[in-house]
Amino acid sequence: MGCLTRGFLVGAVAVLLAMATAADACTPADHSALLDFKAALNEPYLGILNTWSGADCCTNWYGVTCDPETKRVADIVLRGESEDPIFEKAGRSGYMTGSISPSVCHLDRLTTLVVADWKGISGEIPSCIASLPHLRILDLIGNKLSGQIPADIGKLSHLTVLNLADNQISGHLPPSIVNLNSLMHLELSNNKLTGEIPSDIGKLSMMSRALLTRNELTGSIPNSLAKIYRLADLDLSMNQITGSIPVQLGSMPVLSTLNLDSNQLTGQIPTGLLANPGINILNLSRNSLEGNLPDVFNQRSYFTQIDLSYNNLRGSIPKSLSAAKFIGHLDLSHNHLCGPIPTGSPFDRLEASSFANNDCLCGMPLQTC
Ligand SMILES: *[C@@H]1O[C@H](CO)[C@@H](O)[C@H](O)[C@H]1NC(C)=O
Repeated sequence: MGCLTRGFLVGAVAVLLAMATAADACTPADHSALLDFKAALNEPYLGILNTWSGADCCTNWYGVTCDPETKRVADIVLRGESEDPIFEKAGRSGYMTGSISPSVCHLDRLTTLVVADWKGISGEIPSCIASLPHLRILDLIGNKLSGQIPADIGKLSHLTVLNLADNQISGHLPPSIVNLNSLMHLELSNNKLTGEIPSDIGKLSMMSRALLTRNELTGSIPNSLAKIYRLADLDLSMNQITGSIPVQLGSMPVLSTLNLDSNQLTGQIPTGLLANPGINILNLSRNSLEGNLPDVFNQRSYFTQIDLSYNNLRGSIPKSLSAAKFIGHLDLSHNHLCGPIPTGSPFDRLEASSFANNDCLCGMPLQTC
């Protein structure tokens, strides 16, 4: 082979190789955004961010996935509690410090951002996150994030999961949050959120789960919540919510878990909450609810838990409770109930603690009347 020919071949192979690499690799802009994101984090025990090296961020970068066609970064999934063998080998769960760099906002084809359960990541959620047009999942649970929920969060029209639970996020729920019209799961439990739940929260028509327990929310429960047809799981417990329980909550079609315990709710228990055959878990404990317990249980009532303890309920225990298909845990203690405890199921199974500290209840399992 002549020199020229060989030179040509070598050159051609080099060009082909370069083309192949370029076609497989992530774009330089995504690559540099990821390196900036990595630079703001420190993961000392497992070394997973050490895999973020080399030109092709779409291959073998731990937790990074690209769209196979466009080669754009689509998902970042970094979970500090996971079944991944890396964690098993290290014999520990994940720990990371540092912060979430705003450079993540340059990944404009990102659909999933999960940076969960690293315990030590602090700083604020970059507000530019609200301008990631394709974001569907934002899960930053279990870190030490502070500051506020970005005011523009409502711009994320494709967002289905917003999970910021177990952080130190403060401030109000931004009014724009009601514009998240694809949102299915809203999880903000265990933060320092203050202020009221927006009265038009009912606009979140796709929402099936709203978990806001353990914050410092005030104001009343918006009536509009009852308009959310798909809402199955509502937890507003351990806040400072006042006012009465909207009667409309009693006629929600798929509501199955309702936790409103440890608030400052007043007024009566809506009849529908006890008559609704879909509700299986009801905790209204530690409020200032008053009035009689509605006698509305029936053959379709199926409760794994009813906790009405620590309220100001009066009157007697409804006899219809023994008509229920199933009552698991029942706690009526610390109220002002009076009169004979009905007989039959579930009363033949419950302990005295379920009825303790009332005004004048009697009969099994308490003393005879
Ligand atoms: C209901 O809520 C109270 C107060 O927040 C809590 O102590 C109790 O364990 C809960 N009941 C059930 C059955 O989970």
